[in-house]
Amino acid sequence: MSQFETPLFNGLLEHAKKNPIQFHIPGHKKGVGMDADFREFIGDNALSIDLINIGPLDDLHAPKGIIKQAQDLAAEAFGADYTFFSVQGTSGAIMTMVMTVCGPGDKIIVPRNVHKSVMSAIIFSGALPIFIHPEVDEQLGISHGITTDSVTRAIEQNPDAKGLLVINPTYFGISADLKQIVEIAHSFDIPVLVDEAHGVHIHFHEKLPMSAMQAGADMSATSVHKLGGSMTQSSILNVKEGLVSPKRVQTILSMLTTTSTSYLLLASLDVARKQLAVKGHELIEETIQLAQYIRHEINQIEHLYCVGAEILGSMATFDYDPTKLIISVKELGITGYEVEKWLRGMYNIEVELSDLYNILCIVTPGDTKREADILLKALRELSKNRIKRTEQIESKVLLPDIPLLALTPRDAFYAETELVPFDQSEGRIIAEFIMVYPPGIPIFIPGEIITKDNLLYIKKNIEVGLPVQGPENFDARMLRVIKEHKAIQ
Ligand SMILES: Cc1ncc(COP(=O)(O)O)c(C=O)c1O
Repeated sequence: MSQFETPLFNGLLEHAKKNPIQFHIPGHKKGVGMDADFREFIGDNALSIDLINIGPLDDLHAPKGIIKQAQDLAAEAFGADYTFFSVQGTSGAIMTMVMTVCGPGDKIIVPRNVHKSVMSAIIFSGALPIFIHPEVDEQLGISHGITTDSVTRAIEQNPDAKGLLVINPTYFGISADLKQIVEIAHSFDIPVLVDEAHGVHIHFHEKLPMSAMQAGADMSATSVHKLGGSMTQSSILNVKEGLVSPKRVQTILSMLTTTSTSYLLLASLDVARKQLAVKGHELIEETIQLAQYIRHEINQIEHLYCVGAEILGSMATFDYDPTKLIISVKELGITGYEVEKWLRGMYNIEVELSDLYNILCIVTPGDTKREADILLKALRELSKNRIKRTEQIESKVLLPDIPLLALTPRDAFYAETELVPFDQSEGRIIAEFIMVYPPGIPIFIPGEIITKDNLLYIKKNIEVGLPVQGPENFDARMLRVIKEHKAIQ
């Protein structure tokens, strides 16, 4: 088959064209049994292929037909030995990666700023996380990835680890030297699992950071839906055979996946793969040009700074994705949150994210110069109106120490817990997550021993107005800890 073909999408179209009489789910039956307003809005075309795993349409849980053909084409396009489609986002693919290599008590080396799906998988599997501090950029107030040096140290101290997880590139588009990280891990026979949520496109253009498969990683969980043109929630899991078994990957992915897999999502993966393979390079080249134009123009605006290639050169900043626009707004004297709200209210612009010091805008083949110029107009106006309203926002980011882990996160999660006053919690084992965002690094994860320094760190962050995230309604007065059972006198 060639990359110009879309066996899954075409299989669905052919099936729908036959207009079969459906005595199977989904019960809306091509939309006829559905609310009329929604049906009209969504359209008959979409509803005619909102189907289920009946005989002619293959089964994601044991693919042999059109889904297998589509996955094989994706594997070829992404340079993988096997590609698995996920209808549960990259979160589902990440949980699969972790649970493929880790069982109860197994060590996994992970950056401290991992996505919550990694921690969920660590809790589900009973694995023991070995944390590496990511590099923090004090100028920007964001965290980057992990360095080759920190990976070497972590692996030398834990040669029995069952896996190393790397975020590449980061949400902000920064990547470390992934190829070297893979070589280090492989010299210890440790498989490398890449969270490639923000890098589906990087495989298709040489001006972008190296993809997980190009770097020789063993698995990558890749959000096609974020930057690759498929529908929200559709992702892929790429696998290179050797240190991991594709059969085990299929088994775990299947255990974590709904049996009612959406064919709209699956078909959108098929067509997104075709577009990336056939025209990806050309589309991404245009996107890079557009993003560089916006970057250049932003850097002409007083008191705004859009990060570019000058950020490269440290171990954590080996390469970057120019289609991500990290716009530092701290010199305006307002926070990124305020800028986000201002852009929404004044220009109907929605950014990808904001924090205290920055906003992040992503540019994709879905953008044109028209949108770019509206953003620039808005930012020029913002700069003109807001300059020097207050002092520059201070972006000093301190890092807390990583506390000792007394219980696996799973044991802590399932243990009996109680609430204790914040100031009396030192020495107890915490049962919840607490993090400061930005830079999104947990201060405590379940199972860690509460230290005085880290309690002070939380208080300091709250005092200076940094957003400390904990469980719902967290106000730093009480902490949930593992219940102690005192001896009966
Ligand atoms: C770094 C990172 N990893 C994983 C994910 C999860 O991806 P998904 O939303 O496709 O489940 C995200 C989502 O934002 C992310 O930012």
